[in-house]
Amino acid sequence: MSLLQVRGLHAGYGATQVLRGISIDVHAGEIVALLGANGAGKTTTLRALSGLLPTRGQVLFDGLDIGTIPPARRFALGLAHVPQGRGTFGDFTVEDNLALGAYTVPSRRQIATDMERWFEVFPRLRERRRQRAAWLSGGEQQMLAIARALMSRPRVLMCDEPSLGLAPAVTQEMFRVFERINREHGTTLLIVEQNADLTLRLAQRAYVMETGEITLQGSSDELLVSPAIQQSYLGA
Ligand SMILES: Nc1ncnc2c1ncn2[C@@H]1O[C@H](COP(=O)(O)OP(=O)(O)OP(=O)(O)O)[C@@H](O)[C@H]1O
Ligand SMILES: [Mg+2]
Repeated sequence: MSLLQVRGLHAGYGATQVLRGISIDVHAGEIVALLGANGAGKTTTLRALSGLLPTRGQVLFDGLDIGTIPPARRFALGLAHVPQGRGTFGDFTVEDNLALGAYTVPSRRQIATDMERWFEVFPRLRERRRQRAAWLSGGEQQMLAIARALMSRPRVLMCDEPSLGLAPAVTQEMFRVFERINREHGTTLLIVEQNADLTLRLAQRAYVMETGEITLQGSSDELLVSPAIQQSYLGA
């Protein structure tokens, strides 16, 4: 069974329907990409899954129906969400941001060990550990947002456009980190991206959204050579 199983999910903003019955499966240990043009509903999908929007349809997390439970409980169950545009606490230091991410972790020793582990993966955060988050560069803030989410030891990490505003070299570094987190920690990843080429090379499977519906899905290998993807996303 899928770790995250979504069936016929509807969500929107007030009277505006955005998601029109989408179905997604994410298996344990997988990296899955969610692609689509601006306004397709990718961010809305992640918001709906993390409980920030009222939904209709079914969301099962490890077999448990989480469709109506509040965001903090979904997070405590292991569903972490790094929103589009980062969302770190600017007035707090890097260390304090990481500690806040671990608020569901009761053991101080575990928090210290995890912080050390993520400083190893993100050495630039270690150098700036006592600096305010607001003074970090865009790429460093993005790394901090991801490291903060990882401090909760999530089973599924959902990232909304992690490459947004990053230089190509930093994006590549970020994607190498995703690959490593997945391989070494077994963290399941659901990644929303505009950078289809890089994301399809990282992910095993992908879904493509258009105006609130999933219009294409398959293995990354299939999608990389699909004419529709080539035309719309890979500039062929
Ligand atoms: N707070 C909101 N209130 C009303 N409509 C919204 C709100 N947020 C998003 N929408 C609308 O929902 C639709 C889907 O938006 P969403 O942010 O999910 O797209 P997206 O696929 O993430 O796009 P992008 O690639 O630009 O981030 C758009 O038509 C958008 O205008
Ligand atoms: Mg978005």
